[in-house]
Amino acid sequence: MLDKLDVSNLALFSGKKIFERYLSTSNLVRPAFDQFMDYSHMFYKQRRYTNNGPLVKQLEQRLAEFHHVDHCITFSSGFWGLVLAIKALALSEKTEVIVPSFTYRRMADVVAWAGFTPHFCDVDPQTLAISASTAVEAINADTALILCVHPIVNTCDVHALLKLAESFQLPILFDSVESVFETYLGKKVGSFGNAECFSMHASKFINGFEGGYVTTNDPVLARKLALMRGFGFYGQDNIEEFGTNAKLNEIHAAMALASLDGLDEQVEHNRTIYRTYQRTLESISGIRLLTFDEGERTGFKNIVVELLDEWPLSREETIAVLHSERILARAYYSPPLHQKKYTYPTKSTEMSATNRLAERFMTLPCGYLVDESDVELVVDLLKIMRIHAYDIRRRLQL
Ligand SMILES: Cc1ncc(COP(=O)(O)O)c(C=O)c1O
Repeated sequence: MLDKLDVSNLALFSGKKIFERYLSTSNLVRPAFDQFMDYSHMFYKQRRYTNNGPLVKQLEQRLAEFHHVDHCITFSSGFWGLVLAIKALALSEKTEVIVPSFTYRRMADVVAWAGFTPHFCDVDPQTLAISASTAVEAINADTALILCVHPIVNTCDVHALLKLAESFQLPILFDSVESVFETYLGKKVGSFGNAECFSMHASKFINGFEGGYVTTNDPVLARKLALMRGFGFYGQDNIEEFGTNAKLNEIHAAMALASLDGLDEQVEHNRTIYRTYQRTLESISGIRLLTFDEGERTGFKNIVVELLDEWPLSREETIAVLHSERILARAYYSPPLHQKKYTYPTKSTEMSATNRLAERFMTLPCGYLVDESDVELVVDLLKIMRIHAYDIRRRLQL
C-alpha cells in the first residue's frame, strides 16, 4: 500500500483527502437493530417511557450480573452518576476530592458540581493513572474522598489505592468508564471500593446513546443513589434526599441492552483492530503502541500511542496532518486538568510525571466503524509522515 501512497498524495500537498469518510476514535457501536426494536416494544407495550421503567430495571440487573456486583443504578449520563456518587460518598464535613490531573477533561467540573474542591494529583508514569504514591501527596485534613480514574489502556493499581483509602479511613470511588470489560487481578471491574462509575455514551463500550451507571455492594448507598437521581423523591411529594433529574429513559435502556447482547462480537472486532495496529506499527520507529495486559480480561477498545523522542514531528503537527485527512486522532487527555483555568477554587500537588508526559500521547481511530484496511492506511500515512517530516513541517508553517 505504501508504494501507492506518496507524500504528494497527502491533502496538505494535493488538496485531496485520502479517506472519503471520517475515522473516529469513538466506539459508535451499532447494536443489532432487531434486538433494539424487540426491547423497545417492551416499554412501548407497557406505556412506560421513564421513571424506573421495565427496561431500566432489566438493564440494572444485567449490568450487576455482568460486573459481579450486588447493585447497579443507572443515570442519564456518567457525568451525573459521578456527581451524585461523590455527593453521596464524600465526607460531608470535609471539602476536597482527590482526582488525577491527567484524565477526563470535565472531571474538575464533576467535583465542583458535587460541591467540593478538586485536588489534582500526579500519575504513575507506567500506568498513566493515579496511584497510591501520587494520591497520598494530596491527602490532608480536608480530604473528603479519593476519586480514582482508570486510564484509557489497562487499569490503575487498585489494591494499593484501596489500602491507602483504608489507612486514612477515606471513601474511595472508581471512575471505570474506560475499563468496563476489564478484570483487575482476575476479578471483574465493578465491585471495587465504595462504588464504581461507568458511561454508556455512544463513544463508549456499551452504547446507550447517552447514559451512565454506578455499581456497588452497599445497599444503603444504592438506595440513596436511586432516590437522588429522581429528585430525591420517595413516594409522592415526599423528599428524602438531595436530588436532581438524572434518570435514564427507556429508549436509552433499550439501546444499552441491545449493545450488551453484542459485546462478544465487539471485543472480537476490537481485538482485530488492535492486532492490526500491533503488526503494522512495529515497523515505525518513534511510535510506541500502549499494549493491553492480556493476562487480564480486556475489551481492546482504545488505541493509544506514545510519540517517542525520535518521532520527528510534534504531537500537534502529527494530529494536524491526520485531521487534514479526516483521521480524527486525539491528543490524550490534553491539557491536563491542573493546566486549565477555572472559575472555582482548585488545588494541585507537584506534577512532574504529568507535565513530562502531557504532550506525548494520542489516540488513533478504532471502534465499530473502523476496519483493518483503514488501520493499514492510517499507519502507512504515519510512515510517510516520518519519512517526509521536514517537508510536512514546512508546509504546515506556510
Ligand atoms: C473517564 C470518563 N469519566 C466520565 C465520563 C463522563 O461520561 P458521560 O459522557 O456519560 O457523561 C467520561 C466521558 O467521556 C470519561 O471519559
